[in-house]
Amino acid sequence: MADDSTGQTLHALADERRTFPPTERIKADALTVDTSLYDEAAEDDEAFWARQAAELLDWDTEWTTVLDWQLPYAKWFVGGKLNVAANCLDRHVAAGLGDRVAIHFEGEPGDTRTITYADLLAEVQRFANALKGLGVEKGDRVNIYLPMIPEAAIAMLACARIGAPHSVVFGGFSSQALADRIDDAEAKVLITADGGHRRGSVFPLKPAADEAVESTTTIEHVVVVKRGDNDVDMVDGRDHWYHELVEAADADCPAEPMDSEDLLFLLYTSGTTGKPKGIMHTTGGYLTQVAFTHKYVFDLHAETDVYWCTADVGWVTGHSYIVYGPLANAATVVMYEGVPNYPGNDRFWDIVEKYKVTKLYTAPTAIRTFMKWGVEEPAKHDLTSLKVIGSVGEPINPEAWMWYREVIGGGECPVVDTWWQTETGGIMISPLPGATTTKPGSATFPLPGISVEVVDEAGNKVERGGGYLTITRPWPGMLRGIWRHPQRYHDAYWGRYPGRYFAGDGAKLDDDGYLWLLGRVDDVMNVSGHRISTTEVESALVSHPAVAEAAVVGATDTTTGQAIIAYVTLRSGASDVQSVGIDDLRNHVAGEIGAIAKPKTIYLTPDLPKTRSGKIMRRLLRDIAEGRNLGDTTTLADASVVDEIAARATATPQED
Ligand code: PRX
Repeated sequence: MADDSTGQTLHALADERRTFPPTERIKADALTVDTSLYDEAAEDDEAFWARQAAELLDWDTEWTTVLDWQLPYAKWFVGGKLNVAANCLDRHVAAGLGDRVAIHFEGEPGDTRTITYADLLAEVQRFANALKGLGVEKGDRVNIYLPMIPEAAIAMLACARIGAPHSVVFGGFSSQALADRIDDAEAKVLITADGGHRRGSVFPLKPAADEAVESTTTIEHVVVVKRGDNDVDMVDGRDHWYHELVEAADADCPAEPMDSEDLLFLLYTSGTTGKPKGIMHTTGGYLTQVAFTHKYVFDLHAETDVYWCTADVGWVTGHSYIVYGPLANAATVVMYEGVPNYPGNDRFWDIVEKYKVTKLYTAPTAIRTFMKWGVEEPAKHDLTSLKVIGSVGEPINPEAWMWYREVIGGGECPVVDTWWQTETGGIMISPLPGATTTKPGSATFPLPGISVEVVDEAGNKVERGGGYLTITRPWPGMLRGIWRHPQRYHDAYWGRYPGRYFAGDGAKLDDDGYLWLLGRVDDVMNVSGHRISTTEVESALVSHPAVAEAAVVGATDTTTGQAIIAYVTLRSGASDVQSVGIDDLRNHVAGEIGAIAKPKTIYLTPDLPKTRSGKIMRRLLRDIAEGRNLGDTTTLADASVVDEIAARATATPQED
């Protein structure tokens, strides 16, 4: 393996032998309890996906070809036409489900909204007309920068309805990060809010949106949702209140029939370079995969289920499993605005009890945090409504998996550990609750219709043991490219192993053929389930006038999975720690990228360890950060640097 921390994880997982077959309770009414879906897909994966596309979605025009595969470019359901919003709304209302709750919204202060499918359809149509009124046409990009409020879903669906691809930017990103994404997408309209509620107070969003719009050239109009009630500046002619636009808009907006391969959205994610990449997702294949996976991975019974995904709509999990998958399946979703510990550490369990949540989807970082807060928090609430509990975003350690199963799931709920990526669009590797015997910490097997292989450094298939995760067949929800960077698309995913998609993750196959995902093997960190590249943080640090050089590594962290550790060399004249505080540097990174990218610890060092050819030895820096034995340093240009840094690392207290 390329990575020491992966090696350690491998070792830790080698002893995990517990198995959990599906319980009788889940098998009693599960959608699938045997291998029939796997068998069908193994026989002919294209026919399998075509059946899903036909059964799960409504098409305006039938496709002529299921898959056109010209490596690395896939087209699914070629010639088919459909509209994503019509599939998520109109057809359900037409089928008599208008009164079913689409969204139970829970604001952080405790305010609530109940939005039925009929309500959502009406609001989406009006807002779609409002966007048209602002000059948005099919193909135009629209940026969305909102808190976790229903208007985020409404905005996405309104864009989808008129064929304007959206680019959602997580509300925790800085104005600079927003500006970069607006520029790259050349977005015409920005949808934001005055502010949102977080940790008991209002955080303003509009000032950051204003800054971003001022430093970019393409935004013609800004739509502002009133949520925080904080004071904002409204620019005459450019800025519009959402509620005023919606009130004035026509009620009917026909859904635009879109080509199956038309762009549905861009979503920016970190790669190994300093610049985030705009991942492209299209219409028919994407919706097929998210609808299929949402239905079967969560064993959806849409009439009775209350499904809650705790992710933010700013990430792919929010796109696929708060909005598109669940709504395509006519599910009832819970959407929560705030943090898990406001007003108390039991807020999540309060919400589960209040709405009688049956299917819960959250992240290992959250689960580990709940473990720290203690069993008494969930014990305050009745969680017996839960039936399936899911995990996503990072490897889940067996201890957290067991705690989740026992304490949250009451020993009765299958745990579905789901592996996928922004690029894959939907879940790729996961158990099926009624059919798969699980092992704590393993995502088990690829879903029906998904072909995965683990390979060694040279690209040879590994039957048992560790290696790199690759995908060997195109899948419907796969990314169609990187916006405006076709070469980067080819190099990043298809260049390393010819004919294979390289995911960037290490993986291990155990003796029973179970897959164990081991985390990234490239320069991408995973902090609380969020991807951040080391280079991005390094670029942010060196853009500070006092910084000469910076090296960033992800070090193992018991709560957040990885923590960002930075080693910084100051310019001469600025070496006085008093004049450039560590907090200045941390805040500078937050300003450049967002608070999630703030290094946990910054070490100021006189020099960085480099090879004789000048390459920074990140591996060594990670060893120092994780307190490991430093091993062989003979390739270093100046070995004394390492002693100096190691001494400072032991002496410097951790920042919180
Ligand atoms: O390293 C894997 C990790 O998260 C990466 C994808 O991050 P992102 O595109 O932000 O999407 C996160 C939500 C889908 C992967 O390359 N990852 C995601 N899920 C798991 C995981 N690692 C292990 N187990 C998982 N279940």
